[in-house]
Amino acid sequence: VRVRNRALSDPHFQRWAARFPLTRGIAHRRATALFDMSAGFVYAQVLHASVRVGLFQALEGGALDATELSARIGLPVSGTERLARAAAALDLLEMDGERFVLGVHGAALLANPAATSMIRHHELLYRDLADPLALLRGDDVTTSLRRFWSYAAPPGTPTDDVAGYSALMADSLALIADDILDAYPFGEHRHLLDVGGGEGVFVEAVARRFPRLRLTLFDLPPVAERARARLDRTNLGSGVDVVGGDAIRGGLPSGADVATLVRVLHDHDDAQALRILGAIRAALAPDGVLVVAEPMADTEGARAMGDAYFGFYLLAMGQGRPRSPDEVASLLRSAGFGRIHRHPTRQPMLTQVVTAHAASIVK
Ligand SMILES: C[S@@+](CC[C@H](N)C(=O)[O-])C[C@H]1O[C@@H](n2cnc3c(N)ncnc32)[C@H](O)[C@@H]1O
Repeated sequence: VRVRNRALSDPHFQRWAARFPLTRGIAHRRATALFDMSAGFVYAQVLHASVRVGLFQALEGGALDATELSARIGLPVSGTERLARAAAALDLLEMDGERFVLGVHGAALLANPAATSMIRHHELLYRDLADPLALLRGDDVTTSLRRFWSYAAPPGTPTDDVAGYSALMADSLALIADDILDAYPFGEHRHLLDVGGGEGVFVEAVARRFPRLRLTLFDLPPVAERARARLDRTNLGSGVDVVGGDAIRGGLPSGADVATLVRVLHDHDDAQALRILGAIRAALAPDGVLVVAEPMADTEGARAMGDAYFGFYLLAMGQGRPRSPDEVASLLRSAGFGRIHRHPTRQPMLTQVVTAHAASIVK
């Protein structure tokens, strides 16, 4: 690696590699990748602006020229043209002569309101990342994401209402609920406890698939209240027990033989995560199973999503870190869990699944 890197950082070698027929293609691809990395923030802004003005919805009915599009999205014609051409360069749109139509990514986004909510939400992340070094140094900055995820805010800081994050999570859970339910045989259990269950979208999906499973949802009291109200509006009604509390302080309702932690563990530093895991272990029936489901670091084909995207997202949020399946396993082991297994999922970029037994009984 040292020899390779010495060559790659030598300007003479770079000039030679860019001309030599056998290395020309590689040199070009690497230069493009590096350019794309440095321009990534700009590309993200093009996407963000497109979502905010409803560019993709505007083109749902077919091709439009810049003037027609301008009337739909409420930007001046010159701004519309600038945005639409940038979006076309990123395959969000395509050009059909002088007119614009949906491109592959724009069309896909139309069918994916959850991704659209995340793109809108990224406004807070971009604001917080304006000075990444301040975050990396650990300077005492109150970020927008800390206020948004109120459980990550230092005590006494003003925070947003839990409604914001609860709705964002409820929107995006649809993308992964089926993957989790397909990855693990929940039907073999009798009572499921969803810890950090948000507004109850996951337990609702469980109930639909496994109507005989008893269900308990646990979350912070204001979120539990929202879950209760939301579930009461569904035909599940009182079929789900909803309990408010703080998993870090323990006191989870006991007796379930399977617990789930869906997109919860990565939000917490190791010390807090161990307390949550300890509380779950204490609450589970003997030999009960914990199912951890979340996007993880070191995901093949999506490595940047883990340590780069989630690493910096959680840095801005002020706590937590993305963990690889092996790191999740070692945390589970430290909390006294055993018989740890990984279960393949359809979209590992969105969630992986690791299970563990409450008592480390080796068969
Ligand atoms: C990222 S959200 C995930 C929600 C849901 N599981 C999902 O995937 O949509 C994390 C959830 O954990 C809850 N949470 C965070 N800290 C908690 C704690 N100490 N005790 C109980 N719930 C907690 C939050 O209120 C929030 O609903």
